[in-house]
Amino acid sequence: MKAVRFDEYGDSSVLHIRDVNVIPPTSGQVLVKVQYAGINPGEIVIREGAMRDFFPARFPGEGQGSDFAGSIVELGTGVDHLRVGEAVIGMSDKRSAHAEYVTIAANRVVPMPKGLDPRVAASLYVAATTAQATVDTVAPQPGETVAVSAAAGGVGILASQLARRTGADVIGIAGPSSAQALRDLGIQPVEYGEGLVERLREAAPRIDAFIDCFGHGYVETALDLGVAPERVATIVDFGTAQRFGVPVVVGTSAAMDPTAVVSRIARLIAAGELSLPIRAVYPFDEVRAAYDDLATRHGVGKIVLSVG
Ligand SMILES: NC(=O)c1ccc[n+]([C@@H]2O[C@H](COP(=O)([O-])OP(=O)(O)OC[C@H]3O[C@@H](n4cnc5c(N)ncnc54)[C@H](OP(=O)(O)O)[C@@H]3O)[C@@H](O)[C@H]2O)c1
Repeated sequence: MKAVRFDEYGDSSVLHIRDVNVIPPTSGQVLVKVQYAGINPGEIVIREGAMRDFFPARFPGEGQGSDFAGSIVELGTGVDHLRVGEAVIGMSDKRSAHAEYVTIAANRVVPMPKGLDPRVAASLYVAATTAQATVDTVAPQPGETVAVSAAAGGVGILASQLARRTGADVIGIAGPSSAQALRDLGIQPVEYGEGLVERLREAAPRIDAFIDCFGHGYVETALDLGVAPERVATIVDFGTAQRFGVPVVVGTSAAMDPTAVVSRIARLIAAGELSLPIRAVYPFDEVRAAYDDLATRHGVGKIVLSVG
């Protein structure tokens, strides 16, 4: 099969698509033929080596990718709750999703709800679990106001809608080209950049909770606005969070069952109650261009790879 591999830390040019062996599923595993795979900014950080102390790459032949969707082509022994041909949403903890086939524990896939766009299904694991963990952390109450930075990004757009569903009003910090998409989801857009604090104060007399999906000073902005440290959550700026007693959120290791969260959010999206826009689809062999696009850090929703 073809799979993304890299042998050294660096920019997207270190990524290669290689022929590698398909690993047959053993007891408790399934083999999934991947249709689409999601990409996430954290994969860029790992590939560049900036987090090598926490997430070291295994060279040569490091793989990548957490999010995928596809169909089961083979069952390992002892797997009786899934069937060959079944469409599934997958979650790899082993950076193996960017490949034509993924061999994975059966409890790391969940059935894809009918009617769900497979490109959206392939974008859910990291974004949905992280978004849910941020909302659980700040625990919005009906009638409160929650601000979300990078509200139009992959995590932010789900976190904003999940916060909205608690009955809170949500302010989404985004650029001008994302404003209408947020308005359409019931989120009040406020433009980032110079004068942000004044615009936020004008948009809401009081901000009760703040979800930071961008870093670069938003934790301090939240505290300047008078948000209590325990009601600020950041998924990016762990250093500042530690200084001010602000909770940090690591979505995929949060105290939750990721399969339950992904299943629930997938069903809500399939039912039209939540939306995860797909901003671009790249052919598998254009994986470098997909990551270069993601690295611009602008756009609404998720970028996916079309694998097979
Ligand atoms: N801790 C965890 O477990 C965890 C999990 C997932 C992700 N993350 C991290 O969380 C961050 C968000 O991930 P993601 O997948 O949502 O990223 P993403 O989709 O790449 O986010 C892009 C968004 O950032 C917005 N943006 C650009 N400049 C901004 C600014 N100055 N202020 C506010 N927003 C700005 C863009 O808005 P416009 O297009 O309107 O400019 C765009 O919608 C990344 O740093 C990622 O590594 C952490």
